[in-house]
Amino acid sequence: MATKTIIAFDLYGTLLSTESIADELAKIYGEDKAKSLAALWRRYQLEYTWRINSMGEYKPFGEITLNALRHAVAEHGLTLAAEDADALMRSYDALHVFPEIPSALKLLEEHGDSVEAYVFSNGTGEMVGNSIKTSPDLGPHASRFRSLITVDEVKCFKPDRRGYDHLLEQIGRRGDTSKVWLVSANPFDVVGSRAAGLNAAFIDRSGKGWIDHLDDKRAPSVVASGVDEAIKLILKY
Ligand code: LAC
Repeated sequence: MATKTIIAFDLYGTLLSTESIADELAKIYGEDKAKSLAALWRRYQLEYTWRINSMGEYKPFGEITLNALRHAVAEHGLTLAAEDADALMRSYDALHVFPEIPSALKLLEEHGDSVEAYVFSNGTGEMVGNSIKTSPDLGPHASRFRSLITVDEVKCFKPDRRGYDHLLEQIGRRGDTSKVWLVSANPFDVVGSRAAGLNAAFIDRSGKGWIDHLDDKRAPSVVASGVDEAIKLILKY
């Protein structure tokens, strides 16, 4: 039997829209602040993961996410009530999928004989599991993913090499990456996975193309406008 193609999907920002949390922020802080709060929250969430990696330390992604929210709110000169923090963190388990995700899931179903799909995320197993189960669009299709693999098992965040090595270990492809793909809309995740020897599809939602120049040798293998197109390009590659 031919070796299956493995596709590992990044979760936050790739399948689930972290911008969709703006609807919840608007209920607390008003429409005019919601979008910039959501963007800053996401920015500090990622910045905190990179900073704590550099310090050689680790805190679970849920804690990082809550602390980043506190930072974003304070930077806007606003306050965060404990019950609002709880409500916002609960909403993180109900983020919306990007519009093309239902058709991407259908493609995975159609190509189930040749493709094995995984979720690979910075979140903890509990957080990722809740985010998928509670998502109205993703929940019913959770079984499309063979398993949820998280960096929490190795206590460091993307793009630390140990995270990608852990993914390869879990899927049984260490040293055999030719048919292993990461699909991510996060450029740092694409470059990190390429450095670890994986193929990578970059989801270019802003339509600007690949403009990350940290390491031009680690450009994505393919660039797609959405996750469904990425799956088609991977199947043709
Ligand atoms: C994740 C981050 C990158 O889901 O958002 O791994």
